[in-house]
Order: sequence, then C-alpha cells, then structure tokens
Amino acid sequence: MSRNYVPEPFRIKMVETIKMLTREEREQRIAEAKYNLFNLRGEDVYIDLLTDSGTNAMSQDQWAGVMKGDEAYAGATSYYKLVEKAQEVFGFNYIQPVHQGRAAEKVLFGLLLEEGKFSISNMHFDTTRAHVELAGARAIDCVVEEAGQPSVRVPFKGNMDVEKLEKLINEHGAENIGVVVMTITNNSAGGQPVSLENIRETSAICKKYGIKMCIDAARYAENAYFIKQREEACKDMSIKEIIKEVFSYADIFTMSAKKDTIVNMGGLLGVKEDQELFQACKGRTISFEGFVTYGGLAGRDLECLAIGIEEGLDENYLRYRIGQMEYLASRLDEAGIAYQSPVGGHGVFVDAKSLFPHIPYNEYPGQALAIELYKEAGIRTCDIGSYMLGNDPDTGEQLKANFEFTRLAIPRRVYTQAHIDVMADALIAIKERANQVQGYKITWEPPILRHFQASLAPLDK
Ligand code: F0G
Repeated sequence: MSRNYVPEPFRIKMVETIKMLTREEREQRIAEAKYNLFNLRGEDVYIDLLTDSGTNAMSQDQWAGVMKGDEAYAGATSYYKLVEKAQEVFGFNYIQPVHQGRAAEKVLFGLLLEEGKFSISNMHFDTTRAHVELAGARAIDCVVEEAGQPSVRVPFKGNMDVEKLEKLINEHGAENIGVVVMTITNNSAGGQPVSLENIRETSAICKKYGIKMCIDAARYAENAYFIKQREEACKDMSIKEIIKEVFSYADIFTMSAKKDTIVNMGGLLGVKEDQELFQACKGRTISFEGFVTYGGLAGRDLECLAIGIEEGLDENYLRYRIGQMEYLASRLDEAGIAYQSPVGGHGVFVDAKSLFPHIPYNEYPGQALAIELYKEAGIRTCDIGSYMLGNDPDTGEQLKANFEFTRLAIPRRVYTQAHIDVMADALIAIKERANQVQGYKITWEPPILRHFQASLAPLDK
C-alpha cells in the first residue's frame, strides 16, 4: 500500500495549460534535441521535472509583491526589506543579493580560491565545482560513504565524512584549503539532508585549522525540516530555530534563492562578520551583477524573495512538500524500483544503475532513463551521474560517478497527486522493458558543464 498523500495546504487560483504530444512526436523531438533534454522546448514537455530551480509557483502575496517592488537603482525599499528579513532568519550581518546561486559563487570563490588551492565539500553542485575550477582551484567531494549506496537507509546521507575531511586537510595543508563548502541539502547525493551534529562537527574542524566554512544554502528549509524529523535532539525546535543554529556555524553562505525561497529568479551571498571580505564581495558584485542594492535583480524580484523566505519556513508547507516525495517513493517501493533512499528533499533520484545493469557508466544509464521517461510520458528529468560529472579537468578522461541517478526534481506547489501518479506509472512501464533500453555516446561536448549542451546518439545494441 502506498503512503497517504499529504493534501495541498493551498488552493489553485491561476492555471497554465500543459499538453502531451503523441509518442511518435516525442520520439522525433528528442532525436531533434540530440538526446539532450536541455534542448527540448518547454511546450513539448508534459511534466517538467528537469529542475526544482526557479520553476516554483509563487503565492498571491508574492505576486502582490511584484506590483509593490521598488525599482530604484540605488537604495530601493525592496532591497532593505530583503536584507532585514535575511538578517533576521540567518543571523548574518552582511547580505548581498545576486541574480542566482552561481553568481554568488562567482563573486565569492575568486576571493578565496586560486591555482594550487582546494575547495572541500560534502558534495559540490555542478556549477559550484565549475566556479572552483574557473578560479583555478580543484574541488574535492567528501561525502559519507553511505551516499553511494542507494539502498542503504540512513537518516543523513548528505553528511560530510568528517574523518576524511580532517585527513584531506592534513594531506593538502590547511593553508591550501580555500574553503569548506557544506551543501544543504546535498543535491548531488539525492537531496539528502545533513544533520545539525554534522554541521557542528565540520565547523569545529574548520575552526581548528582556520578555514572558512561556507554553506551552499539552496535547500536550507528542506534540510531543517529533515533535521526536525530525524534528529532526536532537535524534535522540539521550530524550523526557524534550527535554521538559526545551522547558520550560526558558518562564516559565509551562498544561496540559490530559486529553490527554498520559492521564487523564479534570485540568489543571496551572506557574510557573517568579516567586513573586509564583504567589502571585496560588494566590489565584485558591482562589476559582475550590478549595484549592491539590486545585485542583478529587479526590485520586484527582491520584494517577492523577501516574502518567499518567510513562506518557505512554514512547517505545514514543508510537510506537504516532503510528503510529495515520500508518496512517489512509496509507489516506487511497491514496484521494486530502486532510488536514493530514504527519499530526499526536492526530488526522487532513481537508481538507473540498478534499473539498467547492462549499461556501463560511460554509456550514461541516468541519461538513458531520462530519455526513456520523455519518450514514455513526456516527462523531462535529468542525469545526476557520470554524464553530468563530465571529464577529469587534468586528463580529459570520463570520470566515473559514485552513482548513476535520474533525478525527478519536483517544482514547489506546482504538480498534483495525479501528476505524481503519472511519474510512477511511467517508471513502472519502463521497468517492464528495461533490458531493451540502450546506452548513449556523446558526439559533441563543450569543455565545461558539458551536460547542458552536449549532443548524444543512441548506441546500437
Ligand atoms: N548549489 C546547489 C546545491 C544547487 O542545487 C544549485 C542549482 C546551485 C548551487 C546554483 O544555483 O542555479 O541559482 O545558479 N541547482 C539547480 C538544480 C540548477 O537543478 O539542481 P543557480
């Protein structure tokens, strides 16, 4: 029996029509897209699970905020509203809006990293890794081992392996570690949470060696909800209290606000105390993003971001949100389809390696499943595996990822239970003919972040 679906704590006031093409049309569209789902037109997609980033439905209060946004170039009211709200929730002195998460990475990493330096993270998201490399440094992932074992159910699979972290610091020399990045939730490991205890331990190691700890805070509210559910010591804390404590252990945060703060565009960079560092960040923001009081955003974006920060903390909303993942996961349990379990915060990461044991990592099982889901039901997803990981920047060799996932990222407040059932039914249909699905080869790729743009072709069996 599948788990009960948690009813939506909202009703629908505005709708957007979507339609499903025929199977023939879908097969044609995906071939024309060179088997890269980023090349599909949105209108050719029935259910879009490519990302939960910027694809969320704003509330009536946020849309009212759009009308109220102050578009002053300097000193806009909306800027002050946003900064005050962020200071209150995260407890940081300095807050800089930017246009999205990777902009915060670009502004910050150039100040902390250079050739010969390293960034160590529980896992770098792909743009984070790219900005580490663009700054001339190297990115090292240091997640707990269980993250690579989809069927092993442990509560905090996103955690940093703290023993390994300390070893890495000693191996490379503390002076060469430019930053330690704690990604919450750990997107690349399956939206898996990081415990408060692990954040505290990581922070203590960073302090011991004088290294700055940066939270990659894209999904901090979902992470806080998991901490409340799964960490005994935190069960009586409010979501807000948990978030305050989590951020109290960091020196810096970068945030894609397109996730847990439920807006379509925006990002934040926070510096807790280091005024000199913040001053340098402001300088780089002005050259890359725009003046400090808008940071690449329109006043209306700043306004609805300030409102979204508060809405994203609502426990009823978070229960429904995580409940959608749990409902889909329970349908996959019934069907014997493996995924990164227990299910994470922003999507279900299906274990394509176990679904397609005949497809090796360098024929991209996660991408093969993403293509099948589009062909089967017009569902757009993405690979989180070797295809996304790309090539070693030094040798050019294809890297082998710890796992081969296809990510069904669920946008916030967008799809209903019936849509979730379409996703489960499509996966079940694919499972029934799994041994007929073939791998893919890359026929063209750019040097960095290749998965967004590469062309692929099916391999003949
Ligand atoms: N960090 C994490 C953990 C992310 O998941 C993302 C984006 C970023 C940084 C970069 O933020 O897109 O606003 O520039 N993740 C999206 C995703 C794109 O689909 O998971 P951005």
